[in-house]
Amino acid sequence: MREIKPFKVAIVGTGYVGLGTAIMLAYLGHDVVGLDVDAAKVDMLRRGQLPIYEPGLAELMQQAGERLRWTTDYAEAIPEADAIFICVGTPPQADGRPDLKYVAEAARCIARNLNGKVQVVVNKSTVPVGTGDWVARLIEDNALEYHANRYFVVSNPEFLREGTAVHDSLYPDRIVVGGEHEEGVKRLVELYAPLLEQSFEAPEFAPRPQAYTRPALVTTSLGSAEMIKYAANAFLALKISFANEVANLCEHVDADIEEVVRGIGCDARIGPRFLAAGAGWGGSCFGKDTAALISTGADYGYDMPILQAAVTVNTRQRHVAITKLQRHLRRLKGKRVAVLGMAFKPGTDDLRDAPAYDCIARLVDLGATVVAHDPIAMDRARREWANLEYEEAPTAQAALKGADAVLVMTEWQEYKDLDWSAACRLMRNRLVIDLRGVVTSAPAATVVERVGRPSLGAPQDTTLAEGVA
Ligand code: UDX
Repeated sequence: MREIKPFKVAIVGTGYVGLGTAIMLAYLGHDVVGLDVDAAKVDMLRRGQLPIYEPGLAELMQQAGERLRWTTDYAEAIPEADAIFICVGTPPQADGRPDLKYVAEAARCIARNLNGKVQVVVNKSTVPVGTGDWVARLIEDNALEYHANRYFVVSNPEFLREGTAVHDSLYPDRIVVGGEHEEGVKRLVELYAPLLEQSFEAPEFAPRPQAYTRPALVTTSLGSAEMIKYAANAFLALKISFANEVANLCEHVDADIEEVVRGIGCDARIGPRFLAAGAGWGGSCFGKDTAALISTGADYGYDMPILQAAVTVNTRQRHVAITKLQRHLRRLKGKRVAVLGMAFKPGTDDLRDAPAYDCIARLVDLGATVVAHDPIAMDRARREWANLEYEEAPTAQAALKGADAVLVMTEWQEYKDLDWSAACRLMRNRLVIDLRGVVTSAPAATVVERVGRPSLGAPQDTTLAEGVA
């Protein structure tokens, strides 16, 4: 690894973004202290355990070694830091606006512990436009007089995806740095030099992709950087909703959404990615960020009609599985329905805004017995979905045993690799509602319903008799 100029970095908040950033910066060679007010979490991290499941992150943490420390104490983390990252949560409130109380609390605590040397405060939490200025004022109001103005606030949004966070943080498409002080922006560019120049040694478990050279550096005003994060997520969300809308129409006109996407995706102006139709988007970002952007629009009297439509399509998409089930089974009361996949996407145990939740809740409402399986997220679901009445299955096969139908809600590799012929033989009624494109051919005597594509194994409107063997 090329010699780097190591920074002393403090990361406030050890959620997905904070953990990923802390571990990545320490891996690159900086001295990092991660801070969280949750003592249990910090204890766990000190023991070398991660509070989340993220492929490769534990290995990267191990390689960062001594350069990475954890604390609950602002007085330990802040005074020595050259750069202080705010990575705390901004959970949505009932009206869609993000709750900035954790950001405010972090800013106040940082301010009280600044020691007068020039420090840069980096906002990485996803926050509405204008928050950076507000954070700067909060720090100014809470810092000791002597220390005022000896720091710069910059915005440095994060674009990593859960499940591929290690890869995304080492090989980003772009690094966005927004700020009003040239010095603050310059500092951050120096901090990211190993990433910008790709001068670090790639870890074995996350090799540098062949075609990858280096990320684009986008320097902007504070407000633009804040807007870039929202606009990027909103655009991706609306791409998915658009694909779902076209897919729903494909089912009526005998077109196949996968062929359609292949056709439009070759146009470089459109691109093939984020056009996979299915259960609709979930996760911690798209729902929250589209709602936040719509509420920002409302603050200025603009109703954001395109985004509103993207949200409406996504909400409707949550019912697609149930509609398809009802078309085949009519009444769901008393039926046994297997649900494969609970996490909002594969590669993570994150259940936030997972489409599977809505499906299970609706099935239970309709009187069905739900037997659910997920390779990683079942433990978490036991805690976070305690209000839902479903049975757990130790394996996918166990979930399918005696079931009247199976819903595939998450495209885990394990489900792609499943011996579907053998698994479907365990079912009482061989109906597969595959919302994630994991089943490529219909097992014998089985109907596979898909989104935006012709069904496999039988015409789409076939109603299976109960107990078809
Ligand atoms: C997203 C953004 O991709 C990332 O840049 C940002 O920093 C955080 O939000 P993440 O929420 O981790 O990342 O997941 P992502 O892979 O984007 O998927 C979001 C949801 O969209 C998932 O539920 C996924 O299943 C769904 N999706 C994605 C589709 O339904 N179709 C697609 O084509 C792509």
